[in-house]
Amino acid sequence: MGHILAVANQKGGVGKTTTVVNLGAALAERGQHVLLVDLDPQGALTAWSGLDPYSLTPTTYSLLAQEGVTLGQIVRPIGEHLWLAPGSVDLAAAEYQLMARPDRARRLADPLRSEADQVAYVLIDTPPSLGLLTVNALTAAEAVIVPVECRYLAMRGIRAILDTVGTVRERLNPSLDLLGLLPTMYQPTSMHSRQVVEELRAAFGGRVFETVIESDDALATAPAARMPVIAHRPASAGAAAYRQLASEVEARCITQK
Ligand SMILES: Nc1ncnc2c1ncn2[C@@H]1O[C@H](COP(=O)(O)OP(=O)(O)OP(=O)(O)O)[C@@H](O)[C@H]1O
Ligand SMILES: [Mg+2]
Repeated sequence: MGHILAVANQKGGVGKTTTVVNLGAALAERGQHVLLVDLDPQGALTAWSGLDPYSLTPTTYSLLAQEGVTLGQIVRPIGEHLWLAPGSVDLAAAEYQLMARPDRARRLADPLRSEADQVAYVLIDTPPSLGLLTVNALTAAEAVIVPVECRYLAMRGIRAILDTVGTVRERLNPSLDLLGLLPTMYQPTSMHSRQVVEELRAAFGGRVFETVIESDDALATAPAARMPVIAHRPASAGAAAYRQLASEVEARCITQK
């Protein structure tokens, strides 16, 4: 089966969507078949791919909230070796629409796991919350990547996402692992940035990726160009970082199996 990885952190703007797009493209460049899944009502991943999360149908909302919709009906090709299950703004309503259902946490896991053998990697983008959409992603996943912005206050939020991962592991998905904490928006010339990474490594050791994602204009401008950074600015620090992350993710997925 393909490796299903959720990218999650309840803090907004830490680089979740940027990681899904650019890690996905870097894995695809290495010859892996990759499916990106948008579970965020903001639809940033879907918009980045050139689709409109306001008008598109069917989407992951249909998969979660409606009956008889298959993953095959919503997935579309977006590049070489790269596919997208788009999201829509309707996902915001899915949280309460699903609430009364006994299978509310498994609406993504069941269809995804039965079709994940079609690709090598599935990367799930989640909203900045620990609600039912993120819980659906964690229930479907084999492991989670937690982007952490290199700022002191951002570190304080790590406990909340790790607690949620622990709860989902206990109640819904016993095989869920932490693939790694990913330092993002790193500023090499900032003492503060360096201190945060040191503290992260002191507190979490090998659970922090070796790869650190720098704060890079090439990453910030890639969404408007509707391209992953390796196509938008192939020689940038951001492109190099996500290529390195792809190789580290492959290695970690093999050792955690
Ligand atoms: N390493 C980086 N360097 C510079 N800009 C970045 C970097 N990573 C992300 N950005 C920019 O920062 C903003 C937030 O990033 P992104 O959308 O990936 O975060 P997110 O965690 O998905 O946010 P949300 O919680 O709202 O979904 C975006 O404008 C993005 O282009
Ligand atoms: Mg996002």
